[in-house]
Amino acid sequence: MSLLEARNIKKVYKTRFGGTSVEALNNVSFTVEKGEYVAIMGESGSGKTTLLNIIAALDKATDGSVILDGMDLSKVKDRDIAKFRRDNLGYVFQEFNLLDTFSLEDNIYLPLVLAGRKPAEMQERLKKIAEPLGIANILKKYPYEVSGGQKQRAAVARALITDPKVILADEPTGALDSKSSDELLALFKQVNQMGQTILMVTHSTKAASNASRVLFIKDGAIFHQIYKADASDRQMYQKISDTLTLLAQGGDK
Ligand SMILES: Nc1ncnc2c1ncn2[C@@H]1O[C@H](COP(=O)(O)OP(=O)(O)O)[C@@H](O)[C@H]1O
Ligand SMILES: [Mg+2]
Repeated sequence: MSLLEARNIKKVYKTRFGGTSVEALNNVSFTVEKGEYVAIMGESGSGKTTLLNIIAALDKATDGSVILDGMDLSKVKDRDIAKFRRDNLGYVFQEFNLLDTFSLEDNIYLPLVLAGRKPAEMQERLKKIAEPLGIANILKKYPYEVSGGQKQRAAVARALITDPKVILADEPTGALDSKSSDELLALFKQVNQMGQTILMVTHSTKAASNASRVLFIKDGAIFHQIYKADASDRQMYQKISDTLTLLAQGGDK
């Protein structure tokens, strides 16, 4: 059984008062195995964020289902959704989404605080990840006192601290300069090598070339996928570029 399965996901956004509707996702199906690092690529407006939000149970599909570790998300009761998300998923956003009035440490602790964990356990968990994430010496700082790259590493720590089944990342390098992007991608790779399953949406070819598999989404459906297998990041970059060129030409694979 796959760790994550998206089955025939459809999403139609209806404007209020019965106006026009937008079909953001048409028929998306794919699976992610435990320990995989999967990137989803597609142009702006192709439905990437919509898809990730549905998988994160932040939004509801119009049709289709998401199965995480054997659990059908649509069967989780509304009042249990926040807890389900906290217990199973880590989310990394393009804009970091840290609380400005909390230190980095308190931001990272937040999901555990909400889950009612004891301070000793929280400290123990943070100790394990702060060093590898390179944030051990800035934990007492506030978001406005650190760089974008450091903020994003704190956001990754916040996603990792609950030991989630999968990390979902939406354009995690989108707001970073190229050096910080490279650092974040190296970090994701390291975290994945430690066994963490990652699903990342991005329109960056460079970011996607780090993943072990890339899915291409176009007009709300998966158009193609490529496996990295033994290819280097460079070779993967080339394979992705070639696929994107085909996609842009509207051709078949
Ligand atoms: N809340 C919303 N209401 C109406 N339309 C939306 C909403 N969110 C996204 N859309 C539309 O759905 C499509 C996919 O958007 P999105 O998932 O944000 O794409 P991406 O993340 O790939 O840029 C776009 O046409 C967008 O305008
Ligand atoms: Mg988006």
